[in-house]
Amino acid sequence: MSAKSRISTRHSVVEGWGGYLPPNVVTNDQLAKRVDTSDEWIVARTGIRQRHIAGENERTSDLAVEAAKKALAQAGAKAEDVGLIVVATTTPDNTFPATATQVQAKLGNTTGFAFDVQAVCSGFVYALAVADNFIKTGQVDSALVIGAETFTRLLDWQDRTTCVLFGDGAGAVLLKAADGPPDRAARGVLSTHLHSDGRFKDALFVTGGPGSNKEVGVVRMNGQEVFRHAVQKLAEVVEEALSTHGLTGKDIDWLVPHQANQRIIDGMARKLGLPGERVVSTVAHHANTSAASIPLALAAAASDGRIKQGQLVLIEGIGGGLTWGASVIRW
Ligand code: ACO
Repeated sequence: MSAKSRISTRHSVVEGWGGYLPPNVVTNDQLAKRVDTSDEWIVARTGIRQRHIAGENERTSDLAVEAAKKALAQAGAKAEDVGLIVVATTTPDNTFPATATQVQAKLGNTTGFAFDVQAVCSGFVYALAVADNFIKTGQVDSALVIGAETFTRLLDWQDRTTCVLFGDGAGAVLLKAADGPPDRAARGVLSTHLHSDGRFKDALFVTGGPGSNKEVGVVRMNGQEVFRHAVQKLAEVVEEALSTHGLTGKDIDWLVPHQANQRIIDGMARKLGLPGERVVSTVAHHANTSAASIPLALAAAASDGRIKQGQLVLIEGIGGGLTWGASVIRW
């Protein structure tokens, strides 16, 4: 349902951002030595040229901490003052405890509370919505919203239809409370819009789980079905987000989409009437990092000066579940 703000007297503002990519880069050509694929096929179908893969001893919480530290430093904030830490991840360090609690410990925060959100590639939009609502209700004054994945650990390296698509990484934003309801003209998260439809589980899922076969499992995807849903559902949720504020695509300074496939990204930009110069695309270098992809792209574009304070940013994503969502943020 639409999360248009109704009675809130507070809103949340993005005060810091950061991204982290593990140093190990694997190019398409390197992958093609292990799998029956080619750089040409991967680039033509997806736009992906390389991906970062976490080291053996690097866990999702380690990637998350690096991104979170940058977001805190960027905002001039201290980890111990953060009220809430939400980690969106599909690849937790352990089945339990929540990876967010390990991030909390590694950051040295003992007064806030921390938990994970699981919505696969839509995870960051879901986590942002959760944190934004905690801030709006006055339960916390600040929140670290992190998307972090060691997604390549879920891959079947014999399955060329999935293993070429994904990478590892983490991105984070620090939200802080500000007075007044969300206002189209003021900085902050204007609204978040979430959807899911569990009937489409089989389009994209992992073959294992503690409650089914006690295994971690591997990713299985019907790429064409996910593609069809992505084009339709992302267009709908973006329209919902924009119309909530009386906006059109032309009002948006930056589209920062989930980075799954350049063809989906280009399709959304065309629908919104946005030229490529106003779309942040990292898919060529990061591949699909699931919940990390949007905050990594936000951090890249805000750090290199493309996204400027006061500009309107539209984020959107779709993932396993199916889940999908969007948010409009005045940066
Ligand atoms: N290298 C070479 N050939 C390949 C590869 C590969 N890596 N993968 C598949 N092929 C072959 C197929 O076997 C098939 O061959 P055939 O015609 O002889 O049977 C041919 O290429 C075409 O395969 P399609 O699946 O039809 O290729 P398509 O154009 O649909 O592209 C892709 C596949 C890239 C996966 C696309 O469908 C897609 O991007 N889907 C959306 C994925 C997505 O957005 N996921 C987001 C959510 S992810 C999450 O939530 C975790």
